[in-house]
Amino acid sequence: MGRKIVVTSGKGGVGKTTVVAGLARALACLNATVCVVDGDIGLNNLDLIMNVENKVVYDIVDCMQGKCRIKQAIIKDPFLDNLFTLPAGKNLPVGEVFSFDSIINKLASIFDFVLIDSPAGKDDGFKRASFSATEAIVVVTPHIASVRDASKMLTMLSADKSKIALSIVVNRLRGDLVASGDMMTHSDISSLLTAKVLGVLPESDSYNVASSLRFAGDNDEFKQALMILAKNLIEGTFEEFNYTAKYTGVMGFFRRKLKRL
Ligand SMILES: Nc1ncnc2c1ncn2[C@@H]1O[C@H](COP(=O)(O)OP(=O)(O)OP(=O)(O)O)[C@@H](O)[C@H]1O
Ligand SMILES: [Mg+2]
Repeated sequence: MGRKIVVTSGKGGVGKTTVVAGLARALACLNATVCVVDGDIGLNNLDLIMNVENKVVYDIVDCMQGKCRIKQAIIKDPFLDNLFTLPAGKNLPVGEVFSFDSIINKLASIFDFVLIDSPAGKDDGFKRASFSATEAIVVVTPHIASVRDASKMLTMLSADKSKIALSIVVNRLRGDLVASGDMMTHSDISSLLTAKVLGVLPESDSYNVASSLRFAGDNDEFKQALMILAKNLIEGTFEEFNYTAKYTGVMGFFRRKLKRL
């Protein structure tokens, strides 16, 4: 049985969809078979970020309503044969948890990883997206509102689903600001949330972070950090991408000044 992982957050816009898309690509590059599922039904954009929006014919709601087979709705990645997307489009009546669960379980019987992109917050959309998951990654950014909301999500997830494995991914860390003491570090956040950090992802300068990953070279920091995150997920390790390395020492001091010009 494959791993069923929901990627969620308390606060919106912290990078859940970006993490799902980037992590899926990184896992697929490490030879895992991966299906990403858009659990943000109605406000979906995973198909866009995965660059398959022009290939959508059926979506998860059609599968849930028995209008098509799952194999008709999943879309193969244009570049990686072991990476698929199950998009979401139409809205659903509230509460359709069990048919969603059945689809996730069928996918998990085939794929090594099923990554579910959840809406932010604790409403029905989140409950549906997280229902089947045995692991949850809570995405958090180094901002106090995001940390507070992540704390609420972690508390709720551990209360509702005591057997779920919880970890956090700290996204949008700015090495220059952390090095100068102007931004919380991932360790600060981990201590505040008493949660394990599965990955740390730097702020990226790319216009469309997730889509640009397809073309990013091996020296792209965001890509490197995603590869470490994927490796951690596969191997159960907690290696950390060093996002401040560039900004320490004499050259680091210069780069920090340059960044603020
Ligand atoms: N590490 C990063 N560096 C720079 N920009 C980022 C990073 N992570 C995410 N973003 C940008 O932040 C915006 C929000 O990201 P995303 O859509 O992934 O968040 P989300 O949590 O899925 O939002 P929502 O709650 O609305 O579903 C996007 O424009 C994305 O490109
Ligand atoms: Mg999203």
